[in-house]
Amino acid sequence: MDRNRLLTWTLWAPSTLLMAGLLSGCSPAAWDMDGPMSFFQPQGTLAAIQLDVLMVALWVCIGIFFVTGGLYFYTLIRYRSRPGDEARIPAQLHGSTAIEIGLVAIFVVLLTIIMVPNVRALFIMDDLDTIERAELVVDVKGYQWWWGFEYPAQGIRTANELHIPVGTKVTLNLTSDNVIHSFWVPKVAGKLDVIPNQLNRMWFEADTVGVFQGQCAELCGASHANMRFLLVVHEQADFDAWVEAQARPARPVTEGVDPAQVALIERGRAIFLQNACIGCHTVSGTHALGQAGPDLSHFGSRREIAAGMWGNTHTALAAWVQHPADLKEGSLMPNLGLSDDDAAAIAAYLLSLK
Ligand code: CUA
Repeated sequence: MDRNRLLTWTLWAPSTLLMAGLLSGCSPAAWDMDGPMSFFQPQGTLAAIQLDVLMVALWVCIGIFFVTGGLYFYTLIRYRSRPGDEARIPAQLHGSTAIEIGLVAIFVVLLTIIMVPNVRALFIMDDLDTIERAELVVDVKGYQWWWGFEYPAQGIRTANELHIPVGTKVTLNLTSDNVIHSFWVPKVAGKLDVIPNQLNRMWFEADTVGVFQGQCAELCGASHANMRFLLVVHEQADFDAWVEAQARPARPVTEGVDPAQVALIERGRAIFLQNACIGCHTVSGTHALGQAGPDLSHFGSRREIAAGMWGNTHTALAAWVQHPADLKEGSLMPNLGLSDDDAAAIAAYLLSLK
């Protein structure tokens, strides 16, 4: 091996290994492509159709990569200059009509292969009949930076947690009152822009019971990355029970709770109802009727707070109500100057709202 080749290999081998490591996130598990935001294991009709579209285009591109790369290397080796005939120039094919027409024909065929599943997917996704006849309709509103979900037929409202029954076609009416957001649940359905002064409609369907991660997929401001939500897919009976529970007026659930905790919840309720909280939040059955922030009527039943930033625990919630503007970039919820005790009491009250 001469010096140049040795140098080439000592540069290529480590950098190839490094690239492989970086691409895999240095973890063999990354190759499973089964993270919470991965669309490679679809759990819904639309996600499966969209994955088909991607895979067809991907395989066509991989084919083009290997064919053109193969021809390139074949040409490099076959027509390299050899000692003694450096002056020889191979036959030139520039302007060959047969090659030009052949290339155009090949790419027409390849683009047609990519186009067929795309057009099919567009017709399925945009089918007005399916959208009009869905068994469940949810009005989705993008806020800065959280999601409002309203079920007009069931008369319920929630935030950052979209509940649906499994195997049921659901229609979403998407709007925004501020900037452009984008609704996306990678494993189940995606994506559709959520645009001010425009109603965008989409249908989707989940195949599997479970909790799936959703995310705003359009850069919308400081807390775009913190505009997450959960899609909770229930068996039909569990969904009906959830709807029934959400439709009831909110009340602190204090059965089986010790008296000291009940006193804390009552104190939290009093502070909440006397403070600016009620200007933005609704708690059904009370005089808190604000509309600017998330409906908190059944807040204690939710899994996460602040649009997916933390789990819904007492510690996280107390910190959040005390310092929202510090903890979430650009949050419109102001710091109210609550003391540690008041924040703890409000958190206890909100968690009791099941
Ligand atoms: Cu909303 Cu990004």
